[in-house]
Formats: sequence, structure tokens, C-alpha cells
Amino acid sequence: MEAIEQLIQRVAQIPQVKLGHFPTPLEECPRLSEALGGPRIFIKREDCSGLAFGGNKVRQLTFTLGDAVAQGADTIVHGAASQSNHCRQAAAACGKLGLNCYLRLARDHKSIPQGNLLLDKLAGVDVEIVDASFGPELDVVKHKLAKKLELEGLKPYVVAGPRSTMLAAVAFTWCIAEIAQQQEQLGIDADWIYTCSVGGTQAGLVLGTKTLDLKMKPFGIAPIRWENKHERLRTAANSAADLLELDTQVMDADIQNTDDYIGQAYGYLTPEGIDALKLVVKTEGIFLDPVYTAKAMAGLIDHIQQGKLGRDDTVIFLHTGGTPALFAYQEELVADL
Ligand SMILES: Cc1ncc(COP(=O)(O)O)c(C=O)c1O
Repeated sequence: MEAIEQLIQRVAQIPQVKLGHFPTPLEECPRLSEALGGPRIFIKREDCSGLAFGGNKVRQLTFTLGDAVAQGADTIVHGAASQSNHCRQAAAACGKLGLNCYLRLARDHKSIPQGNLLLDKLAGVDVEIVDASFGPELDVVKHKLAKKLELEGLKPYVVAGPRSTMLAAVAFTWCIAEIAQQQEQLGIDADWIYTCSVGGTQAGLVLGTKTLDLKMKPFGIAPIRWENKHERLRTAANSAADLLELDTQVMDADIQNTDDYIGQAYGYLTPEGIDALKLVVKTEGIFLDPVYTAKAMAGLIDHIQQGKLGRDDTVIFLHTGGTPALFAYQEELVADL
């Protein structure tokens, strides 16, 4: 078993830039617990990570942009869905670090100048909506652009693929060390940590909890269907373990992740998600986002209602942010009111 401070020391050796406000708070939610007649609930406030309305990607970009700067890059090329929280946080981080930023966003039903896309434009970065689907097809677009920028004399760094996911796993291994310290301060020992992820966030939670031998088991609620998700998560966790020089080996059996709460598709609201969003703000004054965290909270609520978590359990819900996207869903949300 690794000591918490030792793990923090290992993470400190990885190239990084200072972007966010860490540690993020770990807050108890007694009114939410009471409303659900359920377990003791704490929310880890990654939505309060400081930079540009916060979110889980600030912690991730601490290491991806650290990697870029260490490689001598002066330009970041990124891209995802048109309401990408990751891209909004990257745009702001580039502003803070004085890096050029190019975003190539996949055209979809939310390619509207609202929410995150509005913020990207306000951040003054080079944004283009492209006809490529989010995933490997968009990655080709990003790499092509990087080649072109290189010919123009820039030093581009592309945020994409397994390296970005592995560095996210490093970031959330660090987050687990932070939570372990906060648990000691609060005198708690959680049974579960729930979050919305099918990528580096969950990979890091799995690697961190296994390395520190915590009681807490990570449970991921996917916002999108990816093939081979166990392999992707295991590979990210184990390559992060290699980078951190840890002996921990993550197996498929360590990874619990469900697609059950995605609904129609990525980026479309579910009625249960909207109910969860309203309940959390009404009981705790905390807003969730429509695409990720509301669906994850709907999953946690369903598990409580099914009796998978009882009154004697303690659960941490890692709030990954994303709230600026609420404004891009005005029509659907107003229709529900
Ligand atoms: C708000 C929010 N939650 C969760 C996620 C999922 O994170 P991961 O990359 O770990 O799957 C994202 C990713 O973009 C996000 O923006």
C-alpha cells in the first residue's frame, strides 16, 4: 500500500502547469441524503476547480498543457463536440498561459453560439465547426491542421487520443490522493465514489483508490457509448501507473461503468437527468449540467432507489462541472418548466 503523501510526491514529478484552485472542496449534502432517504452523500466540487467556470478538465489540462509546454509547444490544437467543456477550459487555459489555441468542433445539434461555444468565441481562440464526427474522424482533422501549422513555423501540440486520456488518469489519481486527505480531515471512509466518465477521470479514480487501498470503489456513469471501454480505461490507468512508477496493475474487474443512463444519445437530455438536476439545486444549491453530471446523478439516485446503496453507506459524487452547457439547452429546459 502506498502512503498518500508518497503518491502526491510522485504526481508532483510529472510536468504540469498551474491552472486551477486545488484542492477542490468536498462538501456534505445532508438535505439531498434526506430527500433520497439514502446514504450519506458528499460532493467533490471539481465544478469549482477555478478556471473558466471550472470542471474536471482543468485538473486534466494541468498535465496535458504541462506536457505541451515541456515539449516546447506554442500552440494547442483541440476539438470535440461543439459544446465541449474540455475545449472551453482549454481555450481559457491557453489564454492564461499565452499559447495559441485552435479548436475544431464537430457539427452537431448544439452548434449554436451559446453555452461553451459562446465562451470559446469570447476567449478569442480560432474556432471552426467541421463536418467530422467526434472521435477518430475529428482527430484526423486536428492532426492535419497541426501539420499545416508546423509548416507555418508554429510548434503545435494536439490534445487527443490515449496520451490525453493517460494524463487525465494521472490527474484523477492525484484527485484521489486529495480526497483521501479530505476524508481523514472529515473522519469519513466512503464506500463508493460515483462520477460521470468513460475516460481518464474514471481511470484515475480506479488507479488512485487501488494504489492507496481505499475502501471506496469507483463507479462510472458513461455520458456516451464507446466500444472497448474497459480496455480503454484499463490501458489509460496502467499507462498512468507506468508514468508514475507505481506497481499497481488495474484489471477489468476493477472497472465498474454503465451505459444505462445515457438515454437517447450523447448530448440529449433525459427526464430523469432533469429531475436529478432540479433536486440537487433545490436541496443543496448546486447546479449540475445537462449532458454529464445530471445523468450521473440520475444513475446514483436510481441505484439508491434499487437498494444498491443503503442508509449506512457513504458515497462521494465527483461533480465534473459542465454547467455552462445549461445555456445551450434553454429550449429543452424551458419546455420542462
Ligand atoms: C462535465 C463533464 N463531465 C464528465 C466528462 C467525462 O470525462 P471523461 O473524459 O473522464 O470521460 C466530461 C468530458 O468532456 C465533461 O465535460
